[in-house]
Amino acid sequence: MARIVGGLTTSHIPAIGNAIAKGSHDEPYWKSFFGGYPPVREWLEDVQPDIAVMIYNDHGLNFFLDKQPTFAVGAAPEYYNQDEGWGLPTIAPFKGAPELSWHIIEALVADEFDLVTCQEMNVDHGFAIPMQLFWPDYAERDLRTVPVMINTVQHPLPSPKRCYNLGRSLGRAIEAYPEDLKVVIIGTGGLSHQLDGERAGFINKEFDEMCMEKIVNEPEYFLDMSIHELVRQAGAQGAEFINWLAMRGALNGNVKSLHTNYNIPISNTAAGLMCLENAA
Ligand code: DHB
Ligand code: FE
Repeated sequence: MARIVGGLTTSHIPAIGNAIAKGSHDEPYWKSFFGGYPPVREWLEDVQPDIAVMIYNDHGLNFFLDKQPTFAVGAAPEYYNQDEGWGLPTIAPFKGAPELSWHIIEALVADEFDLVTCQEMNVDHGFAIPMQLFWPDYAERDLRTVPVMINTVQHPLPSPKRCYNLGRSLGRAIEAYPEDLKVVIIGTGGLSHQLDGERAGFINKEFDEMCMEKIVNEPEYFLDMSIHELVRQAGAQGAEFINWLAMRGALNGNVKSLHTNYNIPISNTAAGLMCLENAA
């Protein structure tokens, strides 16, 4: 049977992609940010997951404001990276796992999550940057991916509770998959940030620290929070935290936090990194 080995979170700020391309890892601005990743990569080397389920948000590449699904799941043999306008280099495609994708889609629809299914899907920085951060050599690996896209850009956005429950359904589906696969779930985006409007540049360290603490073993804390309250506390783009909640929903009751890192600001964002080991 497939087994969920753990959950990871990371911000996906486009500037990270340019820093990787330029090799700026050791510059003073970036050192503490990139310094957070090696312990997580060591854990991944130990665990050797076969599949990365990437819970992310599209930023106008595969879906634009004219057609915006609440939830979409990729079921393609390969996912192509493209830059939706940040000037980022295009990186190698990501391998898909279409059989597992269709199993997940069947289970989520049976649980009344009505999805858009994508047999072709381009993935932007929200997907590509976490992949590069966790597996800089992903193109040479057998690692396969399942993209799970949540709308965080065009209101109405799904509530924290809805996203957590999507994650629970996703977790049950994966654990019921008959093949012996090790699966890691990634929730990307956040933490607090707002890119536009009167609160552009908004960061809420206290709220972020609370999120990083409670998501470990008290995720229920967020289930009665409205999406508008989340936007108030985390900023308009900080709503990406719903991707973290979906990741957490896919894990079992108890998890162990193995590693965290937090840096403000990276570009306009509070960058949060977490590595959660799933209870057996
Ligand atoms: C930034 C952060 C994001 O999450 C994003 O999608 C785009 C830009 C930023 O801080 O610059
Ligand atoms: Fe984003």
